[in-house]
Amino acid sequence: MKGHSLATLIWFLLVGADGGRGASLVAAFTNDQVIVREVIIASAAVAQAVEVSMAGRNDDSTKRGQSKVPFIIQRIGRGDEEQIEKIAAMCVDVFFNPSMSGEASRPSASKNTPAWRSLQLAYLRSAQIGDMRARRAFKKKSKVDLIVARRIEQRPPAEIEDHCEVMGTNNMTEIYNSEELSTAENGEVRVLGSFIGYCEVSERKFGLGKGYNDTNARPYLSNLSVIESARQSGIGSRLVDACEEAVLDWDAKHTEIALQVEEDNKSAIQFYKKRGYEYVFSDPTCKRYDTSGFFLKENKVTKFAMIKRLENRRERRGEVRDDPPSLVDRLRNSFFVQKTD
Ligand SMILES: CC(C)(COP(=O)(O)OP(=O)(O)OC[C@H]1O[C@@H](n2cnc3c(N)ncnc32)[C@H](O)[C@@H]1OP(=O)(O)O)[C@@H](O)C(=O)NCCC(=O)NCCS
Repeated sequence: MKGHSLATLIWFLLVGADGGRGASLVAAFTNDQVIVREVIIASAAVAQAVEVSMAGRNDDSTKRGQSKVPFIIQRIGRGDEEQIEKIAAMCVDVFFNPSMSGEASRPSASKNTPAWRSLQLAYLRSAQIGDMRARRAFKKKSKVDLIVARRIEQRPPAEIEDHCEVMGTNNMTEIYNSEELSTAENGEVRVLGSFIGYCEVSERKFGLGKGYNDTNARPYLSNLSVIESARQSGIGSRLVDACEEAVLDWDAKHTEIALQVEEDNKSAIQFYKKRGYEYVFSDPTCKRYDTSGFFLKENKVTKFAMIKRLENRRERRGEVRDDPPSLVDRLRNSFFVQKTD
């Protein structure tokens, strides 16, 4: 059994029955659970930490200047085991190990990563994998869609290995930024590369308060992440777009999509605002893992709840263009931004 599988098993035995808390990377646990779980998981994570610290760095973290990364968006439902592991590794890098945020196909660490840091990262990956597995196993009635962005690579036939997923010539999947790929004159083949972006949308009980229908679970967007070297290529926008499309496919009853973002994550707040999300309320009781010290801690953070109404999008479904926010929304949003700067 791999280290992270063991860690996940222990984690699941301890808190699996409580998986309804939505133990995503940025969600909260009770204090007792955290203390007990961390002690036990730390030992289980050792096995993976060893594996991690042995792993070479196979990333592509060089900033690409102005060139854009060619990619596709895949909607993978609840995902399979392999996909979940890759997604967890990528999310942990983006949120907790940004300097190492490279390609997502391997545990993220370099030879210079101290063992304690590897342990923390291994624990966080295990927690994330456990959360995703638990939701797969026990929340079958809730709708969930995992959306991934995958790099498109172009390789000569001689470099195509058995495990490569080659894009067929009849494959109509849209490649974004395809102009960055050379013409296939020299017989090069396009293959699906690593996971470079991720976002998920799921039905959750997330109350918005007065003026909203809080009776039923609503679509909740979470864990939006793009590896550092692939940003500014439109991946984040396409991931959010795909989440919104997924919600429209689920059911006609959903009228908005909700999310939470930390109050000090100014660039993400701006990103969401530009895509039509509006501020609803602040919650100062949220928690976030703090990986800055030797011990993994949980700190309180304030998160902003934001929503995007889907009526316009639903009406105009099929059009490429996103609806611009109304004048009222823009005024409200600009007030909100001034407040947080
Ligand atoms: C927020 C995040 C997902 C955005 O991802 P991204 O792939 O860079 O997003 P996009 O490329 O779609 O858009 C980013 C900006 O680049 C611009 N852009 C998009 N494509 C571009 C291109 N080809 N050339 C230049 N700029 C481009 C966009 O206009 C956008 O700017 P704007 O927000 O001012 O409109 C990413 O920065 C990230 O992972 N951050 C860390 C994790 C995080 O904070 N997540 C949010 C949790 S709530």
